[in-house]
Amino acid sequence: MRSLNWEIPYTEYLTSEIPAEYLPLIEEAKKQAMNAYAVYSNFHVGAALLLENGKIIGGNNQENSAYPSGLCAERTAVFYANSQYPDVAVKTIAIAAYTNGEYLKDPITPCGGCRQVLLETETRYGKNMKVILYGTDKIYVLDNVRQLLPFSFDKERL
Ligand code: THU
Repeated sequence: MRSLNWEIPYTEYLTSEIPAEYLPLIEEAKKQAMNAYAVYSNFHVGAALLLENGKIIGGNNQENSAYPSGLCAERTAVFYANSQYPDVAVKTIAIAAYTNGEYLKDPITPCGGCRQVLLETETRYGKNMKVILYGTDKIYVLDNVRQLLPFSFDKERL
């Protein structure tokens, strides 16, 4: 028997330390959250993707009275990007969430289903997707999606 550990490397930046190059994508994710259709949860999530061709694609959560029919912001954005630019990798994703009149103080972390979908996109293009998780007090940055989803299921297992 042996005990093992996963390590998840990520960088934490205080708001004052955020590298300037991340700011436009963060601003877009915040803007996208404002367009969410979140009438049931009041939890407004925005995602912004930077594609390898320089395009920025946004998305937000789209809820439904039949709850499971709704979709998270990350998947809305990444499915749109993959459908419209099937040959273009996603370089970076920024995610922000707004509820009760303010953006979350701690960074928003994507749900398991979104991690799985983001990982598929990262694997599909064979390029790391940087992940920027926004909070008003601090942000987290990960170099790739793989680190967000330990013990992931992928096509190698099929
Ligand atoms: N949501 C997202 O859009 N992204 C996440 O990473 C977590 C949750 C949405 C789904 C639902 O509309 C609302 O937030 C509350 O769960």
